[in-house]
Amino acid sequence: MNQAPQQPVIDILPDPQGVADRAAKWIADRTAQTSETFRIAVAGGNTPRALYCELVAPPLRDRIDWRRIELFWGDERYVPHDDPRSNYRMVRETLLAHAPIPIDHVHPVMLEGGVESGARHYEALLKSAYGADVLSPARPLFDLVLLGVGTDGHTASLFPGDWAMDESTNWTAAVVHNNEPRITLTYPAIHSSRAVAFLVTGIEKSEAVRRAIGGDLALPAARVRSQGEIVWFLDRAVAANLAEAGTA
Ligand code: 6PG
Repeated sequence: MNQAPQQPVIDILPDPQGVADRAAKWIADRTAQTSETFRIAVAGGNTPRALYCELVAPPLRDRIDWRRIELFWGDERYVPHDDPRSNYRMVRETLLAHAPIPIDHVHPVMLEGGVESGARHYEALLKSAYGADVLSPARPLFDLVLLGVGTDGHTASLFPGDWAMDESTNWTAAVVHNNEPRITLTYPAIHSSRAVAFLVTGIEKSEAVRRAIGGDLALPAARVRSQGEIVWFLDRAVAANLAEAGTA
């Protein structure tokens, strides 16, 4: 299934650290373009660790007005926040522990009476932060959604073939992947964004990235849209297949 995707910006850097540096500067610049609260849905996994570390290191640490940053999570494993698999834990260790973000601006996915109930609580939290139950294209929910991509083309916890790919009303979903319950933002929430940034590195993901950027809608990452721009921050290894596909 192919369809012309929203035209993305593709930024290819020499290596993973280059990706982290470039994305961090880009985020700092975006936060400086407004004096309003800046809402970010952060990505989990390993790739963004270096990005978060870069954001809280000089010089960017002192350029960002952390009091205006508000954090949400793009997805979360249904595990306690101190579990090594927790995306909250990863972001706490790499970013929150080093940045003066007001505590009432930090909105992790909470363990609330089971994964289904947790998903509904997280959606209620998002609606409360947004100040409405219905998303308006004129007023995106997020200023920025950060995403990673798996070798199978999944993004957040939207996996190929999963029912959650077709969720068109609810802002969150409870899913199970490899026997692991997770809570994820759905497309309606992700699409309600001023920008989406993908961070992807490593040769093992090059085929998934080629297909996603090429618009193969079987891949969850290919279905991501934004009210504004979509930027792919890639290292040379993961971008290896793009030139021959004519997409870079
Ligand atoms: C997660 C993510 C997931 C991730 C990709 C890439 O928590 O696992 O939300 O979508 O971004 O699996 O993960 P890596 O960066 O670890 O390869």
